[in-house]
Amino acid sequence: MKESTPPSLRFSIFRNWVSLAGSAIAASAVFSFVLLFILDYFAKETSPYLGILTYLVAPAFLFIGLLLICLGWFLHRRKRARAVKGGTPFRFFIDLSLPRHRKYLGVFLGTAAVLLLISSVGSYQTYHVTKSVQFCGTACHSVMEPQFVAYQHSPHAQVECTACHIAPGAKSFVQAKLGGLHQLYDTVIGEVERPIKSWERVHIKQETCEQCHWPKRFVGNLDRTYVHYLDDSTNSAYTVRLLLKVGGSDPTHGPVGGIHWHMNVANKVEYVATDEKRQKIPYVRVTDGNGKVTEFVTKGFTNDPVKHTLRTMDCMDCHNRPAHHFRTPNDSVDLAMWMGKISTKLPAVKRAAVLALTKPYATKEEGLKGIETSLREKFPGHADVTTAIAEVQRIYNTYYFPSMKTEWSIYPNNIGHKDFPGCFRCHDNEHKTPDGKRSLKGNDCNACHTIVGESRGIDISHLDARGLKFKHPEEGWEDMRCSDCHNGKIEDK
Ligand code: HEC
Ligand code: HEC
Ligand code: HEC
Ligand code: HEC
Ligand code: HEC
Ligand code: HEC
Repeated sequence: MKESTPPSLRFSIFRNWVSLAGSAIAASAVFSFVLLFILDYFAKETSPYLGILTYLVAPAFLFIGLLLICLGWFLHRRKRARAVKGGTPFRFFIDLSLPRHRKYLGVFLGTAAVLLLISSVGSYQTYHVTKSVQFCGTACHSVMEPQFVAYQHSPHAQVECTACHIAPGAKSFVQAKLGGLHQLYDTVIGEVERPIKSWERVHIKQETCEQCHWPKRFVGNLDRTYVHYLDDSTNSAYTVRLLLKVGGSDPTHGPVGGIHWHMNVANKVEYVATDEKRQKIPYVRVTDGNGKVTEFVTKGFTNDPVKHTLRTMDCMDCHNRPAHHFRTPNDSVDLAMWMGKISTKLPAVKRAAVLALTKPYATKEEGLKGIETSLREKFPGHADVTTAIAEVQRIYNTYYFPSMKTEWSIYPNNIGHKDFPGCFRCHDNEHKTPDGKRSLKGNDCNACHTIVGESRGIDISHLDARGLKFKHPEEGWEDMRCSDCHNGKIEDK
């Protein structure tokens, strides 16, 4: 076929404004990419932003530039073809017998291969960047700051965010990234929910935990000591030492029983919750290995459980704050006092510190200032007050985020039963079989743990393996849920 366009067209690829602009963009994108790549490669600690720029933004501009070059060339060529009188209209074709076409095709394929290589390296890098703890914790930083900070103080501080938040498998990775893009949009638009509703958004599967925690492992007993300080002028200590009967859940690896009995491979424990945070559980049923079903129901619940969502109990029904535990003001002050960071010589400092933390503050700055003012007023000229203020401020910085409306009270912790209902959501003597003969007991204080020692003081002089009767600091606590009185703080009388 005869060539329809004049030879000068060969270089007109650069002789139009659209292609020219495109070449400029593409050239600067390549330049920036090389520069950013060198930076990223040699920097000791790379920031997630650098990663995004290098492997997402620069290649995107390169792509736009190349697209513009092609567009300009195409438009220009069409215009020229029309301008040539009597010339055949422009048609796109490739004829491998023409040396010029072979050359163009070669250049095109070569460039495409190089670009593909760059972008595959880029994609791999993007994968790593968006998977990094840095990215999760700081790229959307104001939004996830509370979780990031709490995480750094958790037993999982060395585990990547994605190890828990992305279930095993490539499909989950893509799903999570798409979800992440949606959240990125929310963050930029400023419509992010405050606080983040984990009960609606976060769905972590049991298999995720089981990648690291072998469900068959027999844990046995765990020895834990809890040190508290009372709300009195001398800050008297109150200590209890428990042997938590965690036990095991697989008959081939140890006796099945204790707390991890719920995870027994043969059993299935299902329940109905009537609130979104799953704190009210009126219906529970157990299906054992032989298919026998036992129901435990509270008095008020007359509905058919099938009308509700039945959830199968898993790790997260107890361990729901493994990485983002926002300690209560009561517990965080107790811990600081135990470590000697808040001096017990300051009279009634337990009360003062907890009250300073629980006042409502609109911003972080206001909170830090408020803590300083209230404690200085309370202990004027006292030698230990400056260290105490610094420690209470540190606690505030770690667990309080007014800008995200996030603090300990938003996310109930289900592992125990003192400040939140936890185990007592089911084990409360109120859940009974329909014939009323059996109940989920809560008042046997040595069923889930053995109280091996108690003391009004830090040291426990005497341990009893048979289990002690609980000596609560005040009278009148029996037959009530602990969380009816304990709510993580101290009431301002
Ligand atoms: C050990 C596993 C684990 C790791 C590691 C982990 N998370 Fe979580 N995350 C959870 C669980 C469990 C929940 C709560 C699920 C629920 O309540 O149903 C959660 C909830 C969240 C929430 C929702 C708000 C909330 O506090 O409940 C955000 C946001 C979050 N994680 C971000 C992160 C970020 C950022 C990192 C890394 C810095 C991270 N997570 C690391 C297990 C983990
Ligand atoms: C990538 C591996 C990994 C994953 C996934 C993981 N963990 Fe862990 N977990 C660890 C490590 C490491 C520790 C700390 C062990 C240590 O320091 O003694 C730990 C500790 C724990 C502990 C003991 C905490 C303590 O107070 O001593 C619990 C409970 C726990 N994990 C529960 C979970 C739950 C629930 C999940 C799922 C949401 C989960 N883990 C997911 C690695 C993991
Ligand atoms: C009925 C509530 C409950 C369920 C369900 C549950 N756990 Fe636990 N688990 C506990 C309690 C209570 C402890 C004692 C330690 C504590 O209080 O943190 C514990 C301890 C642990 C520990 C620490 C063991 C150690 O040696 O330090 C790990 C790890 C753990 N659980 C993982 C899991 C995993 C994984 C699952 C799901 C397969 C699971 N748990 C299901 C209540 C539960
Ligand atoms: C969703 C309801 C529910 C929650 C929440 C729950 N349990 Fe249970 N638990 C049960 C049921 C149902 C049984 C079986 C009772 C029976 O068959 O008599 C049980 C049995 C037990 C047993 C006896 C196991 C055995 O050896 O037979 C222990 C110990 C126990 N739970 C501890 C706990 C602890 C600790 C927590 C909190 C971390 C907790 N449970 C939270 C429903 C629950
Ligand atoms: C259904 C199981 C279960 C029963 C029944 C139970 N506990 Fe507990 N208790 C737990 C678990 C699990 C923890 C540990 C929570 C944690 O990991 O911090 C705990 C923790 C405690 C603590 C320490 C709390 C703290 O923060 O200082 C005390 C005190 C305690 N229990 C007293 C009692 C008393 C008193 C009773 C009887 C009325 C009782 N428990 C019945 C499961 C149970
Ligand atoms: C009728 C209300 C009430 C109930 C129910 C109750 N407590 Fe208390 N508890 C108190 C009071 C009041 C104090 C003393 C507060 C202080 O001096 O800080 C206290 C102090 C404590 C302390 C030491 C101080 C502290 O702040 O931790 C522990 C531990 C404790 N209770 C555990 C429990 C447990 C576990 C249960 C449930 C089995 C329970 N309490 C049920 C009212 C109650």
